[in-house]
Amino acid sequence: MLGAKLPARLGFGDGGGEPNRLVLGDNADVLAELPSESLDLVYIDPPFGTGRARTSGAGRLSKYEDGKGDPDAFTAWLSPRLEAMRRALDASGSLFVHLDYRAVHYVKVALDRLFGRERFVNEIIWCYSVGGKSRRSFGKKHDTILWYAKTRDYAFFPDAVRLPRKPASHMRVVKGEDGVLYQEKTDRKTGKVYRYPADAGKLPDDWWADIETLNRGDRQRTGWPTQKPERLVDRIVRAATLPGAVVADGFCGSGTTAVVAQRLGRRFLAVDAEPEAVARAADRLRVCGEALARAGSPPPDVVVETAGGAPAELPPPAHGPKAGSTRQLAPPEQ
Ligand SMILES: C[S@@+](CC[C@H](N)C(=O)[O-])C[C@H]1O[C@@H](n2cnc3c(N)ncnc32)[C@H](O)[C@@H]1O
Repeated sequence: MLGAKLPARLGFGDGGGEPNRLVLGDNADVLAELPSESLDLVYIDPPFGTGRARTSGAGRLSKYEDGKGDPDAFTAWLSPRLEAMRRALDASGSLFVHLDYRAVHYVKVALDRLFGRERFVNEIIWCYSVGGKSRRSFGKKHDTILWYAKTRDYAFFPDAVRLPRKPASHMRVVKGEDGVLYQEKTDRKTGKVYRYPADAGKLPDDWWADIETLNRGDRQRTGWPTQKPERLVDRIVRAATLPGAVVADGFCGSGTTAVVAQRLGRRFLAVDAEPEAVARAADRLRVCGEALARAGSPPPDVVVETAGGAPAELPPPAHGPKAGSTRQLAPPEQ
């Protein structure tokens, strides 16, 4: 798809049903046309407002303007888009907004006002270790993902994201009368006994330190700056939706959310304003879709288009993979 003319269609032999959508354009234009209550989940990873242009090793084309640098201006720019996302969410839907220390406190206040403070569900701290360190402060090694629900009856599927319990934890392992192994602890003050089936897994807390950020040599890397790991988005999509749900990402970059949705059998709408990002996302979706089709589960087709429908052309890469090549694009994570 690198270098393709738009609109275009990626076909995987699914045969029917609504195609998924990858759109080149300003998400404000795409969101304005969405029917109310048409999305089950929105995950966004907007430019963080550093005021810098982001580039990567992929060079000239792999860059985008990273907000305004001024968190008030950034929040004012983002707010109408957040409002449109909220309108498009189904009553059981959720919005996850991925930010860092530069703007998260400003955007949190805007989201509290928009959704109501009682619709705030979690502040997820995503910890990683890759990247530079400062000598003048503690290392800035986490991002924050704010989770808001449209209503109190929001969808949440904890069993889809449980993690194995640590065998060597402070809890004792006991066999219950039912023959099941439990991890058990007694509260010293109250004497109350807490008991969890040992193999049921543990629901992650609101800080996630088990998913590393992508390093330069990672096989998932597309060359797009600030690409997020598939495992991170996978946890969010599984926790907040069931197969068949509609997942949207208005700042999709290299297409991480779209690829995760495609692999997990969710529908998706992914938007990015940069042709180079859309080209990379399209190539990634093609590789993932073809792998799923070969495995006997072809996903729906993907329509790659422009906001408003005008014809356009995706650029060939400046560096990195040649048009149509999958050299840098790893098969989807299983
Ligand atoms: C932090 S990156 C997203 C990275 C993405 N999560 C990934 O894994 O590749 C933010 C993206 O927002 C896009 N963007 C900025 N303003 C936009 C707008 N108004 N509409 C759509 N996309 C926009 C940029 O082009 C950039 O790709």
